Amino acid sequence: MGSPLVFRGAMIHSLDLTHLEILENATLIISPDGRITAFQKSSAPGTPDLPLPAGAKVHHLPPGDFLIPGFVDTHNHAPQWPMRGLGQGLHILDWLEQVTFPVEARFSDPSYARKTYEQSVGDFLRHGITTASYYSSRHAESTRILADICHAKGQRAFVGKCNMDRNAPEYIREQGAADSLRETEECVRYIRSLSGHGGGGGAETGDEQALVKPIVTPRFAISCTPELLTGLGEMLKRDDTLAMQTHFNEAEQEIEATRALFPAYESEADLYDAFGLLGRRSVLAHCTIMTDYDKERLAALRCGVAHCPIANMTVGGGFMVAPVRDFLRRGIKVGLGTDSGGGWASQMLAVMRLAMIASNARVVLDRGRGDDASSLSLEEVFYLATMGGAGVLCLEDQIGNFEVGKQFDAVWVTTTTTDTALRSAMTPREEGDSLKTTFEKFVMTGDDRNMAHVYVRGRRVAGAGD
Ligand code: GUN
Ligand code: FE
Repeated sequence: MGSPLVFRGAMIHSLDLTHLEILENATLIISPDGRITAFQKSSAPGTPDLPLPAGAKVHHLPPGDFLIPGFVDTHNHAPQWPMRGLGQGLHILDWLEQVTFPVEARFSDPSYARKTYEQSVGDFLRHGITTASYYSSRHAESTRILADICHAKGQRAFVGKCNMDRNAPEYIREQGAADSLRETEECVRYIRSLSGHGGGGGAETGDEQALVKPIVTPRFAISCTPELLTGLGEMLKRDDTLAMQTHFNEAEQEIEATRALFPAYESEADLYDAFGLLGRRSVLAHCTIMTDYDKERLAALRCGVAHCPIANMTVGGGFMVAPVRDFLRRGIKVGLGTDSGGGWASQMLAVMRLAMIASNARVVLDRGRGDDASSLSLEEVFYLATMGGAGVLCLEDQIGNFEVGKQFDAVWVTTTTTDTALRSAMTPREEGDSLKTTFEKFVMTGDDRNMAHVYVRGRRVAGAGD
């Protein structure tokens, strides 16, 4: 364990959906185990200085640099990283068959998985994604490799072996529900063993503090037999610390195919709920075509939404726009997802920009329907990318902002680099720019070259700086 850390300088984080706290001259103290132990918001003349812990390593942020909380990516297909952006214009099931499944099939080879996951996890960290909820491929060994790599690199992550025992080509389909369930349980046990919790099922094995956690991952109802969905629901019932993620009401083609396979259910909420899959630890990706009934059910079941505007507006089924403002109004938890694969970017900054564009489109689409929905502001999408995602993953007590007691997952943003090789596309900071303006320039035009250091639990895990 290292020494305590101290950061002094500008810091920006969300207090809630609409309140961004912009601090020009703050001090954060981090314990050797990565917890925020003190946060002095102002060092104005006359304010007594915080006593610094003995042996602390003190970092002074130069003017123009600032700290933000790390980004939380609530929906990411790690094996699709090598195919980001491919297959534009295809409907979802055709895109899976033609573009995605051939790529995911490569992960039957552990050495390919190791090489690719090394690169992809490194890429996500460099872009400031300090927490990710990953779908692995359906291969158990590669899933364990993904968890190992997150653990070794120090990324906070949920890792799920993808379940798919039907409606996929033979070369990628699992051979029956029993095998799929057994391998899933083995992966859950293995991932828990990484944080020293290997044993026997039940809530006592679910370490709330573990950096890498398992997540049950039925790809979507179309790719799972009722027997498999039943077994996964039973796993969740046996262990209420286990999270679950799936694709939900993503596109017309997907909704029609789901109805044809499960004619007893009008609503996907009822379908997944009937198999015992929905609860407060459920992360539902996309949620673009939602009836009022679906929204009511998600609110009542306390499920979270992974809003993936890049994928929704490009691949999969045309221009789909999730009703995020309505989710928020109803108290449904919302985070953002790169959907790396269907989404063309590894960058939460890009997702935030597209979330704003999507919300503008939603306002236009809803015009005349008596809906007073407004677009999402910069403050709101920043909240969704940090605290919102933390809430969706039930990590709101641990990460999301710089509250004392939380863990220090953060990005040190620099807007001052003059190195030509590193010079970023960011709109230049000019004399007289306020910190708010600099922040706005970063969110709208910055990239990983502006992320000098990335920290998870106080450990430096990536960055463009030395
Ligand atoms: N539905 C089922 N699988 C997938 C996937 O890999 N990506 C997206 N966007 N939708 C899906
Ligand atoms: Fe997806």
